[in-house]
Amino acid sequence: MIVEEIRKNLKTRLIGRKIHYFTELGSTQELAIYMAENNSQAVNGTAILAEQQDKGRGRLKNRWISPDGGIWLSIILKPFMPPNKCPLLSFAAVLAVCETIAQQTSLESKVKWPNDILINQKKVCGILLDVATKGDRVEYAVIGIGINANVNIEKIHPYLDDNKHRTLSVTSLKNELSGKCVDRPAFLKLLLERFELYYDHLQKDISTIIVNKIRDRLEYNSVAIEQGNKTIEGTITGLGLDGALLIKQNDGSSVEVGFGDTRTRD
Ligand code: BTN
Repeated sequence: MIVEEIRKNLKTRLIGRKIHYFTELGSTQELAIYMAENNSQAVNGTAILAEQQDKGRGRLKNRWISPDGGIWLSIILKPFMPPNKCPLLSFAAVLAVCETIAQQTSLESKVKWPNDILINQKKVCGILLDVATKGDRVEYAVIGIGINANVNIEKIHPYLDDNKHRTLSVTSLKNELSGKCVDRPAFLKLLLERFELYYDHLQKDISTIIVNKIRDRLEYNSVAIEQGNKTIEGTITGLGLDGALLIKQNDGSSVEVGFGDTRTRD
């Protein structure tokens, strides 16, 4: 991928103004965290992009298989927001990806709470958020975005069996487009612009637009969420303005599940 192509027409103020590009890397997320911790040059909006990762990290300590053809991206952020609102950054990224997919392809994407993106019930993108706090202040956040863009899924399938949390099938945009590739530089340019739009909303403490748009794309399916030593099982009925999931439990009672203290079984 020629990074110049992304830079050329990029209409952002902040996000992706600085891009570090690698043909091979362990993990864009780990490098971004290292830079945010150790490098005063890691300005707000710095993007790290790799063609391949050999130590890609997913949620719940899973491996993230990252062969060529994908979009493996981490963005360093220095947001002004309380730590408990940071999970909304993942929503901003989810929405930016879904809307870029809609703009660049004919495919319709859905959201599996909190931050998986599905096409035809198969996972095409995962989002990872790491946040470092000092007291009630966010020092930095790193949002990791992994999109199986032009990935040949045969390159991923052999590795899926060792992922104990996985219940979803996996796909790529190319696979869903019957072998047609997406223009990755154009995709990335749009993605960075969309993400900046929603990041700016959050910086102005406006989350309503983002949450409403996520609601429209949410899979209202049944879930099992581990919370401490109990599991909440039921059907998703909605999404609160803070991003918490509203669940009707199997015994008929309703419960609200926040981001911070829970893990979706996925
Ligand atoms: C998930 O488990 O669904 C989240 C996957 C996040 C993967 C991305 S790829 C870019 C960045 N670098 C990593 O090592 N992980 C994230």
